[in-house]
Amino acid sequence: MTTQTDIIKKRYDRIAPYFDRIEGIMEKMMFGDLRAHLWQQVRGDKILEVGVGTGKNFAYYPVNKTITAIDFSSVMIREAEKKRTSLNLKVELMEMDVQALDFPDNHFDSVIGTFLFCSVPDPEQGLRELKRVCKSGGEVLLLEHVLSSHRLLAAIMHLINPITVRLFGANINRQTVKTVQACGFSSVEALAGSSHLVKLIRAVN
Ligand SMILES: C[S@@+](CC[C@H](N)C(=O)[O-])C[C@H]1O[C@@H](n2cnc3c(N)ncnc32)[C@H](O)[C@@H]1O
Repeated sequence: MTTQTDIIKKRYDRIAPYFDRIEGIMEKMMFGDLRAHLWQQVRGDKILEVGVGTGKNFAYYPVNKTITAIDFSSVMIREAEKKRTSLNLKVELMEMDVQALDFPDNHFDSVIGTFLFCSVPDPEQGLRELKRVCKSGGEVLLLEHVLSSHRLLAAIMHLINPITVRLFGANINRQTVKTVQACGFSSVEALAGSSHLVKLIRAVN
């Protein structure tokens, strides 16, 4: 039986070779600074990046840390491997679903994900997995686009959401801060730099 996870995975497999070009302008105009800001918050030595995609965060990785990065799309992982080679970076890349992480409990100092939970079929399950593999007192850091708090824009986002899911596998109407808050972290906050559309989220385990 084909699951929603299989369907979304196939969509990312399909767009992976073009992904950097599709997002190129937004990346330059908006996201680069936010990525840098998020990665500056990372604490500890053992880091997990979830939903690594083509490796757009590689340029912001802190030095001298042990970093593992996962994605469920084999084609995304292939693109990330190319980038790893060209940047001569040390990061372990693994094909894995964030909804069922193959890591022990209490394993990483920090877990980080950017623009991931718009597309995970069961975001609460994925977030609970991040909480499980993150050490007690460790941090989960996320950069996510969310449903706007402006009512008119939110209505438009709900309207066009089926199209973005169909084309890119991404929901543009998720309320990810609320979903993180539902997962039992000891604290959840939206960091400075967040806007009505894009949130930098820190959840302490
Ligand atoms: C919008 S892209 C973002 C990629 C990258 N984090 C970035 O900031 O450019 C979403 C990524 O999440 C991955 N993804 C979606 N659902 C996933 C899941 N359940 N498990 C692992 N990876 C997933 C997709 O394959 C894709 O690479």
